Amino acid sequence: MEIRELSEELPFGCMVLGLTAEDIRDQRVVRTLYDLWIQHGLIVFRAGQCDPDFQVNLSRCFGDLQVHSVKEMVHPDREELFVAKGGDGALLEVNGELLGGYIPWHSDQVFLAETNHGGILRVARKPDSGGNTGFIDQIEAYDALPEEVKLRIDALEVVYVMKPRTAPNFRFLPRQNIRVVRANAFQEGLDAKIEGGAYPPVVHPLVFAQPETGRKVLNLSPLFADSILGMDRAESDALLEWLANHITDEARAYDHIWQEGDMVLWDNWRMLHCARGVPEGKYREVHRTSIAGDYALGRVLQAELTGGQRST
Ligand SMILES: [Fe+2]
Repeated sequence: MEIRELSEELPFGCMVLGLTAEDIRDQRVVRTLYDLWIQHGLIVFRAGQCDPDFQVNLSRCFGDLQVHSVKEMVHPDREELFVAKGGDGALLEVNGELLGGYIPWHSDQVFLAETNHGGILRVARKPDSGGNTGFIDQIEAYDALPEEVKLRIDALEVVYVMKPRTAPNFRFLPRQNIRVVRANAFQEGLDAKIEGGAYPPVVHPLVFAQPETGRKVLNLSPLFADSILGMDRAESDALLEWLANHITDEARAYDHIWQEGDMVLWDNWRMLHCARGVPEGKYREVHRTSIAGDYALGRVLQAELTGGQRST
């Protein structure tokens, strides 16, 4: 295998070329890959082995794997794989464009107290246009904050709420004007679970230090963010709007254009990601593993004050 920078312009990300199943039987290689993941946040695997078995076995180098709780999203033959479809009926209008499979900037599972440490993506069905995946480094975003903002936000916590499709949580995505055009059966099922109380509000710190390096992470997921815990609603909205505008600055984003044989690993505790979607009428299918872990800083919000109101 060969290790390269992803881009000279980016302070995160690297590329590993030519990795095979034989390589990851060597514990020194596994250790090197793990350190690259923590150091760079994102690894693009290219021109190596690329199939469902290797994707699962490579993912296990970084931790235990989770099986997704929504059965409809689990691959029928490989329970370790989560299947995300774009162009399967659900449609959003984003800045006037109709897109399937569009998911704005977010961290996975931030609406739960325990968030997965990462995942490996592989495109199983590639459309002839669209389907890029965006990444933003939350360490870089923290470093770019003015000092007075760093001091102000250091001890704050963010409340996250999973909202139903009828009341989507797109408030803190200032660069996207998003409208739900059509849902699919999965989303309708999810709405029923949300309305049934399956997802109580949770809290995560707005800033935390990466344990291995001490580097601070601006831990804000614009999708699912609701408020700053205990802050007046107007003040909370203003601060989250400012921070969301800062963190989703596309000048700091890396857009992965998928090539045949690519797999991408990211650190979900440190990188935001987004699915850019596919044009109406196109179909894309992505298979993802979920690498377990618990940074142990999230918790379910129970009868605590949120913006002056009790949330539960
Ligand atoms: Fe995601």
